[in-house]
Amino acid sequence: MRDGRRRLVDEELPRLRMPVGPLENLQSLFSDPVSDVWLEIGFGAGEHLIHQAEANPHIGFIGAEPFINGVARVLAEAEKKSLHNIRIHDDDARPLLERLPAASIGRVFLLFSDPWPKTRHHKRRFVNAANLDALARILKPGGEFRFASDDAGFVRWALAATLAHDGFDWTAKGPADWRERPPDAIATRYETKALTEGRNCVYLRFQRNGSTPGPTPKKA
Ligand SMILES: C[S@@+](CC[C@H](N)C(=O)[O-])C[C@H]1O[C@@H](n2cnc3c(N)ncnc32)[C@H](O)[C@@H]1O
Repeated sequence: MRDGRRRLVDEELPRLRMPVGPLENLQSLFSDPVSDVWLEIGFGAGEHLIHQAEANPHIGFIGAEPFINGVARVLAEAEKKSLHNIRIHDDDARPLLERLPAASIGRVFLLFSDPWPKTRHHKRRFVNAANLDALARILKPGGEFRFASDDAGFVRWALAATLAHDGFDWTAKGPADWRERPPDAIATRYETKALTEGRNCVYLRFQRNGSTPGPTPKKA
């Protein structure tokens, strides 16, 4: 890692890292007032997170990513662009999901999450019943869960799992809704690689339904 980025990891990350202990009012984590808090899980090199934070200065962003070079890149870009609306969880997102208050997040992004294509590894996929319960608990009613992937098998898996969960409705009205990237998003690094190599990408948007936060029972 370059010296400049090492300095940011040593000096800025402790300041921007999500605090330990109980999390109550997420909006109070940000120095400027924010009207909502959005979460990106596995932001990789962080280009989408930075784009969203720059485009939505009144939203607070939590980015979860254990890959330290990606974290360093986000810290560098946030400093360069004077962004004050990002907090970082530089670790596995799952324990963070458990700590976030119920109905506290307006939007969750899970973009080009590892597809684990081998059948014996499918259980490692981030989209699973336990994580969907956690996302349903933290999302506000009407909040959005965005998923994208270039792996057709993982797309089918994620669509089936999320449709089987009572807490989410798929908002697509026609093919353009899953074939085209949402207009307010930009291509991530993995997405760009997939498109360059000729693979189709699929974009799924789900709405958190109902008004009762918390884990929802599975359909029989
Ligand atoms: C295939 S990469 C995609 C990165 C980025 N979203 C993109 O589209 O370019 C998946 C990322 O998810 C991160 N990741 C994997 N499991 C994770 C977890 N449990 N919590 C947070 N991030 C995770 C990995 O470190 C990796 O950076």
